[in-house]
Amino acid sequence: MNFLEICKQRCSVRSYTNQSVSAEDLDYLLEAARLAPSAVNFQPWIFIVVREEANRLKIQESYNREWFKSAPLYIVICGDHEQAWKRKSDGKDHCDIDIAIAVEHICLAATERKLGTCWVCNFDEKILREALALPAHIEPIAILPVGHPNPESLCQETAKVRKPLQEIIRWEKF
Ligand SMILES: Cc1cc2nc3c(=O)[nH]c(=O)nc-3n(C[C@H](O)[C@H](O)[C@H](O)COP(=O)(O)O)c2cc1C
Repeated sequence: MNFLEICKQRCSVRSYTNQSVSAEDLDYLLEAARLAPSAVNFQPWIFIVVREEANRLKIQESYNREWFKSAPLYIVICGDHEQAWKRKSDGKDHCDIDIAIAVEHICLAATERKLGTCWVCNFDEKILREALALPAHIEPIAILPVGHPNPESLCQETAKVRKPLQEIIRWEKF
């Protein structure tokens, strides 16, 4: 698969089989995350892998959806606001941007490996923080369920609903 094919094939998978994710695949995803770029290369991230049943249940409390429970593992991607680069001119914290890049690296690497993922940000932050015992300066930014997609969840055949290029591209000026 070339890069554009991976982009086309990646989709939000919301149903997983009960097959576990191999250690080799998990290492591959985490390495893809580790190699992501970040502002000033500060790498303000922590990736928390949650696989054990009792801990999976706690994560599921933070995002109570039936489909979400089918994932055999979750990667919770957290940002460290103390480490993130703040732009000098206005103090803008680049943590969210850095995390987003690393998250999408994982999603695209998973697609290459025929694994499914789905960005989840609509969780209850308080419940998630408690589940993971996060210190105050660490923010949980996304949960990625990871697993083998259920065949009926595959969305390769469905054309992506995206704005056409001519609507989103401007040349030279706004
Ligand atoms: C920042 C972000 C947050 C998202 N949060 C959720 C979420 O909480 N729950 C969910 O089911 N999907 C979530 N999604 C998935 C989007 O709904 C999905 O990416 C979008 O509809 C496009 O579909 P596709 O991923 O299949 O191409 C999120 C995506 C992004 C990028």
